[in-house]
Amino acid sequence: MTGSITAGIGSVALGAESGEPPLPQKLMATPAVVMAPRSDGVEVVWSVTRLCRGWVEWRLEGGAETHRCAADDFGFVPQGDSILRVRLEGLEAGKKHELRVVVESGDGDKAREETAWKKFRTLDPAAAAASFVVWNDTHQNDETIRKLHEVTPSADFLLWNGDTCNDWHKEEWLVPTLLHPAGQDISAGRPVLLTWGNHDVRGKWAFRVKDMMAMPHGRPFYAFRNGPAAFISLHTGEDKPDAHPGFAGRVAFQALRAEQAKWLEKITQLPEIKSAPYKVVFCHIPLRWIREHGEPNFAGGGYNHFARECRAEWNDALVKWGAQVVISGHTHEEAWIPADDRFPYGQLISGGPKPAAARWIEGKADGEKLSLIMRDLDGKVIHDVKISPA
Ligand SMILES: [Fe+2]
Repeated sequence: MTGSITAGIGSVALGAESGEPPLPQKLMATPAVVMAPRSDGVEVVWSVTRLCRGWVEWRLEGGAETHRCAADDFGFVPQGDSILRVRLEGLEAGKKHELRVVVESGDGDKAREETAWKKFRTLDPAAAAASFVVWNDTHQNDETIRKLHEVTPSADFLLWNGDTCNDWHKEEWLVPTLLHPAGQDISAGRPVLLTWGNHDVRGKWAFRVKDMMAMPHGRPFYAFRNGPAAFISLHTGEDKPDAHPGFAGRVAFQALRAEQAKWLEKITQLPEIKSAPYKVVFCHIPLRWIREHGEPNFAGGGYNHFARECRAEWNDALVKWGAQVVISGHTHEEAWIPADDRFPYGQLISGGPKPAAARWIEGKADGEKLSLIMRDLDGKVIHDVKISPA
């Protein structure tokens, strides 16, 4: 299920007569990826080929005044030799904006680049309607990612519902997989939000994913209101116990699950989260599955198809809140499990990484309904779920 990895930008010699190794001529290694949208801003993340300083210029779409966000928390113009990040704050909710990134060489030569202006819209808790699209389990399958990018429309946000990769065995996979997947600018027309999957946290370089995937509030779980819908994104962690030898002592999700249980109790009391007519949960490993058997044989290669520990910790808070639907991936097999007496929320599970199994979801919420349409890459409707306002 592994596709080819997108190659980085090549290098061209500059000033080679100095005897120093030649500097890459091109500075930007990836598009400026617009991530983690909020009602008051976004975070912009990009990769560079060598030491650079960089900043973001932004304005209301068509506006005369251009702002520059060019200082980090320690008084530096943002700088780095791999990843640069700029968090925009103080923007107006629900307004169309545009931004561009400017980078300059940090090595004393005159190299400078500007990206094209890129449009985005801040989230808006007061909007009458909301739209979003969901991808999951792309697992570095370039053919699937290219087609997903081609067929999914612009929306308020793109929720990448985990398993962006296989396992992070090589550090050099991080940037192309996360910031330039299949050579596409996946945040064009739809800022990206990541919900963490079990493969995103697997492998010896997984700890660096957080360096380049911005979260709205700096943690791998978050909640926000957009239009008539409240969304909660949860981190289900690995699909086996933390002590499993395959994880080599690298993971500690038991504590994170417990922390999210406490956080859920608080966040669901926030007025804009509590009062939303639609209540949607994103988590990579589903909380329900169509074949719920006993505990897997972990020592024999088994793994959890549904997040049994998470469900035990989170279910009461989600039911109390009134969660209507949980949207997940992980199983590589789509399913729709309607709400029932035991679990009063539906469970929508999307497809797998190969093009024939890949699915994407278009979500639209307005005063009448929340519509969740799952399609394959050819546009065939697989599931059409309609939810009434609470
Ligand atoms: Fe997966």
